[in-house]
Amino acid sequence: MTDEHKTQTSEVPEDCLRRWEARGIGRRDFLKFCSAITATLALPASLIPQVAQAMEGDNRPPVIWMEFQGCTGDTEALLRASAPTAAELIFDYLSIDYNETIMAAAGHQAEEAKWATVEKYKGQYIAVVEGSIPTAEGGIYCTIGGESAYDIVRKVCANAAATIAVGTCASFGGIPAAAPNPTGALSVSQAVPGATIINLPGCPLNVENLTATIVHFLTFGKLPATDELGRPKFAYGKRIHDNCERRGHFDAGQYAEKFGDAGHRQGHCLYKLGCKGPATYHNCPTVRYNEGTSWPVMAGHGCIGCSEPNFWDSMSPFYRRLPQVPGFGIEQTADKVGLGLAAAVAGAFAAHGVASAFRKGDSLEDDKVLKDDSDAQD
Ligand code: SF4
Ligand code: F3S
Repeated sequence: MTDEHKTQTSEVPEDCLRRWEARGIGRRDFLKFCSAITATLALPASLIPQVAQAMEGDNRPPVIWMEFQGCTGDTEALLRASAPTAAELIFDYLSIDYNETIMAAAGHQAEEAKWATVEKYKGQYIAVVEGSIPTAEGGIYCTIGGESAYDIVRKVCANAAATIAVGTCASFGGIPAAAPNPTGALSVSQAVPGATIINLPGCPLNVENLTATIVHFLTFGKLPATDELGRPKFAYGKRIHDNCERRGHFDAGQYAEKFGDAGHRQGHCLYKLGCKGPATYHNCPTVRYNEGTSWPVMAGHGCIGCSEPNFWDSMSPFYRRLPQVPGFGIEQTADKVGLGLAAAVAGAFAAHGVASAFRKGDSLEDDKVLKDDSDAQD
């Protein structure tokens, strides 16, 4: 906690802290949570008291959490938050009226609960969607209670105050929508154009980003600012590459050449092993997974770009390095090569996708180029 955060947490009203204590959350833990979530949202510390008070309000919106074509990884991410945490209480107090995985009701009873919430809280509830929406052959690949996922998502999301698409399948179609997309899978924003939707892609989503998004909604009554892909800027505004702990090795031309080699063991850059961090926007290096324990690159595996649209098609082969970029190598300055690489990758996406760029360039010379560049700098 910074000094500024410490000062601001002291401004949180005493009665607010007492009420959280009565719910079993110690004041220290609660203030720490408020401080962390405010920092994650990139909000000024002066808003900590407002965030704290918003979370204890009584007008918590009901949540309808729907799962369609997905692997349940996002629900798992939610459930794996260690107990008991303030974050869990936030979800408890949110009143999750419908979630097939965790609700006690089943069958017709569960469906009735869902439609009763839609009816009673029209324009007030939050819809959360996990998984993509199949549309081929009349949507028969995913039906619930005899109704297609397509019909359900359109009715529920059109009447929601806001919809949060969790995970890459709901945000962008994900693996079900990968070529040849046999089920005609759509993202939520494709299935319900015009609805108020925010995308939290990732395989799975990072539950910290979901918590922060909901806290923002509770505090300000609206969703956080997004990029052109509908992702919140606080979580997807920076490239993996820009905050990666291996970036120093990238800049110094120190690469792991094989999994398990000396460079790999010493934490060198995974670029040559296919890391897509230079073309992926996500806060994995700073927020990390499993309560800040680790993230893919820290664990020794390159980023596969799981939070980018069409990553299964455009980011594969996963163990081949990004397309060779003319002039790329050991940069004079990190920013210079970062910008050049981002522009070149964006160009490759736009023109052909990374996969076809590989096929065209398919450069057996790539490693040589890196080495030559490295030698030139020496
Ligand atoms: Fe990190 Fe990957 Fe960038 Fe290397 S290429 S610095 S491992 S994000
Ligand atoms: Fe996904 Fe890359 Fe983060 S693979 S989880 S965006 S490090």
